[in-house]
Amino acid sequence: MRFTKVIQGLEYTEVKLMKIIIAVLAAAVFCAPAGAVDQAGIERRVNALLSRMTLEEKLGQLQQLAGEANGDLHPEHLVLAKKGALGSTLHVRGAARVNELQKAALASRLKIPLLFSFDVIHGYRTIFPVPLAETASWDTDIVREAASVAAAESRAAGIRWTFAPMVDIARDPRWGRIVEGSGEDTWLGSAMARARVNGFQGADYSAPGKIAACAKHWAAYGAAEGGRDYNSTDVSERTLREIYFPPFKAALEEGVATFMSAFNDLNGVPATANRWLMTDILRKEWGFQGFVVSDYTAVDELINHGIAADGAEAAAKALTAGVDMEMVSRSYNSEGARLLKEKRISPAQLDEAVRRVLRVKFRAGIFDSPLADEKEEADVLLAPAHLKAARNAAVRSFVLLKNDGALPLSGALSSIAVIGALAADKEAPLGPWVGDGRARDTVDILRGLRERAGAGIKVSYSPVGGPLDKSTDFSGALEAARGADAVIAVVGENQEMSGEASSRSSLALPGNQLELLKALRAAGKPVIAVLMNGRPLEIGWLADNLSAVLEIWHPGTMAGGAVADVLFGDASPGGKLPFSWPRATGQVPFYYNHRNTGRPANPDAKYSSRYLDLAITPQFPFGYGLSYSSFTLSGFELSASVIPAKGSLIASALLENVSSRAGDEVVQLYIRRKAASSTRPVRELRGFTRVTLLPGEKRRIEFKLGHKELGFLDEKFRFKVEPGELTVWISTSSEGGLTGSFRVSK
Ligand code: BGC
Repeated sequence: MRFTKVIQGLEYTEVKLMKIIIAVLAAAVFCAPAGAVDQAGIERRVNALLSRMTLEEKLGQLQQLAGEANGDLHPEHLVLAKKGALGSTLHVRGAARVNELQKAALASRLKIPLLFSFDVIHGYRTIFPVPLAETASWDTDIVREAASVAAAESRAAGIRWTFAPMVDIARDPRWGRIVEGSGEDTWLGSAMARARVNGFQGADYSAPGKIAACAKHWAAYGAAEGGRDYNSTDVSERTLREIYFPPFKAALEEGVATFMSAFNDLNGVPATANRWLMTDILRKEWGFQGFVVSDYTAVDELINHGIAADGAEAAAKALTAGVDMEMVSRSYNSEGARLLKEKRISPAQLDEAVRRVLRVKFRAGIFDSPLADEKEEADVLLAPAHLKAARNAAVRSFVLLKNDGALPLSGALSSIAVIGALAADKEAPLGPWVGDGRARDTVDILRGLRERAGAGIKVSYSPVGGPLDKSTDFSGALEAARGADAVIAVVGENQEMSGEASSRSSLALPGNQLELLKALRAAGKPVIAVLMNGRPLEIGWLADNLSAVLEIWHPGTMAGGAVADVLFGDASPGGKLPFSWPRATGQVPFYYNHRNTGRPANPDAKYSSRYLDLAITPQFPFGYGLSYSSFTLSGFELSASVIPAKGSLIASALLENVSSRAGDEVVQLYIRRKAASSTRPVRELRGFTRVTLLPGEKRRIEFKLGHKELGFLDEKFRFKVEPGELTVWISTSSEGGLTGSFRVSK
C-alpha cells in the first residue's frame, strides 16, 4: 500500500528511475556471483549471538586447544565444549571423532559449533610435494589444485580450517622452515599465496570441499637471526613492507579467513604483542575482517620474551595488540575476568575479538552444517584423482640441475643400480607436516623405479649411504653398481631434517653421502644423483663430477611414480629454483634481489663487496632449471621507449623449442631501476609464465608492465612509479637473458 502511494506521488521519470534501481538491485541479489557471501546477514547473526553471551562463553570462543597427534580428542574437550567454553581445536580429525566433539558443543546453551583446525600444509591424506617444491613448479594452477585437493580431503575428515598457507619469505636456508614456504622471492611468493588461498577457500569457504585458510606467520618469522628457528628478527620497515609483507597482503586480497601471529620478536616487540602489526597494519591499513590466532603457546611465550611478567600481562598485551584467539596456552581464559575487572582490557576489545571469531565461523558455514558426513570420508581420502594430481604436481616440481646427457635413461638399458637409504624410505618423501598422511601409502623411489622398469630391466638395490649413516664401508653399494648400466644414487635429507625446529648450521650433505658418491665415482661409474631435501645443500662436488643431478625435494605420496616418469623420460622436468642456491653455507643469507652496494662485487678488485675465499655467485641462480628439451629466446621487444607514470608497456620475446622433444620452459621477466629515491635491487622478478612447447614450436611471450610491476615504495612508503630509466630482462633464470630499457617520463 505504502509503496503504491509513494509511486503515485512520483513523476514518470522518477518511477522509471526507481524501476531501474529496483531491477539493478534485484539483479545484484539474484545474479550475485556464485559463492558471494551475505555479509550483512552474517553481521546481524554475529551481533545477535554476541548480545546473548556470558563472559565465560565469550572467553571460550577465544580458546583453541590441541587434540592428540593421532587425531584423538581429549576428554576435557567434551566437558569444555558442553559448557560453551571452547572455540576451536587443532589436531582432532576424522569425521566420527569430530562429530562426537561437535555434538557436545551443539548441546551447549548457545549451540555455537567448534571450528576444527589442522596443519594441512601440503595435503591431508594424499600428500603433495612440500610447499617449496610446489612453488618450484612456477605453476599457480598446480599449486591451486594441490590446495584444493587438500581442502576436499580435510573437509571430508571434518576439518574446516587449515593453518596454511605459510607465506614467510626465507632468505636463509639454514632455517628449516624454508621448506614450508615459497622461497626467497616476494613476487613469486605472492602469486603462490593467492593460488593457495584460492585452492583452499575458493570464492566461499563454506562451499562443499572448501575450508578456511590462515596466512602465517605474521610477520617476518623467516628473518630469524642465524637461521635458527624461533629466533629474534630485526628488520627495517622498508624491508618488511617490500619483502616480508606482500605475500600476506596477497593472501588477504584473495580473501584469506585468518592470520596467525608469529613466534618471533620483531624489532623489540614480539609479533604476538605487536599492536603495530596486528592492528595498525592488518586492520587499519589493510582492512582485514577475519581473526588472528596466536601460534602455539605464543601468548604465554611473551613471558620468556621478557615483555610480560605473567600470564595476565601476556594475555592483556596479546589481546589488546589484536590477537583474537589463543592457541593452546590458556591465559585469555584464566585471566580474562580479572583483566576486565582491572580495566586492563575493555569489554569492547573482548567483544571485538569474539565478533571476529564468530564471523569466520558463520562464513565457514558451520552453524548451518556443523557435522561431517561420516560415509563420505573413506571415498574422498586417497581418491584416484587425488593421487593422480599429486603425481603430476611432483613431476612438475622437479628441477633438473645438471645433465650431461645421462638423462633421460636410455631405452637400451638392461640394468640399473639404485643406491642409498632414502631410495626405500617411505617417510622422507612425505617431508615435514604430513597432515594425516601415512608412510604406508607412499610409493617410494625404489618401488616406482621397479614398477616402471618392469621385467625387461634388472633393478638392483643397496641401502648403503644415507643422511644418518656414518659408515665408510661402501662395498655393498659398489657391488650393486658394478654391473649396472646406470647408477642412481638417492641422497639428501630425511623427513626430520627440515621443517619446524629443524634448522641446521651447515648445508653440507648429511651423513656419509658425499663420501658414498665419491666412492661410486672413483669406481669409474657415471652417477645420476636424485636429491631429496627441503633446502639447498652444498653440492658443488656433485655438480662438477656427476653425470646428472635431479632435485626432487620431498615429493609426497606419489614420489616413486613421479621420479620414474622423469628419469625414464615419460615426462620432462621443467621446474625452476625458488631460491638462489648457495655454493657454501658461509654465503647465507643469500638472495638474487640484493642491492648493488657502493662497491659491487668484482672478483679482481680487493676493495669490492666479496669474500677472499669464496665466489659470491650462486651454485645455481634463482629461477634456474634445465629441461630435456632445448629452448631459445630471441626477438626481444618493448612496445614503447617512454611511458608516462600512469602508463604501461608490453615486453615480449620469442620462445622456441629447438629440440625434438616436447617440454616446458619458465619464461621470467625482471626489472631494474638505475636511480631512484631509494636504492633498488639489482633485479626484481615482475612476471613469469610456464609454457609447454612441442618440438619446433615457437611462441611470443608477452608481459605487461604497468603500475603494479613498476611501482615501489617512496621515502614515505607510498607506492609510486617514479620517473627514470628502467632495464628489463626476459630470461630463463635470474641471470642473463635478453635485455632492453625504457624511460618513465616526468
Ligand atoms: C607452528 C605453526 C603451526 C602450529 C600448530 C606451531 O608450532 O609454528 O606453523 O600451525 O604449531 O600446529
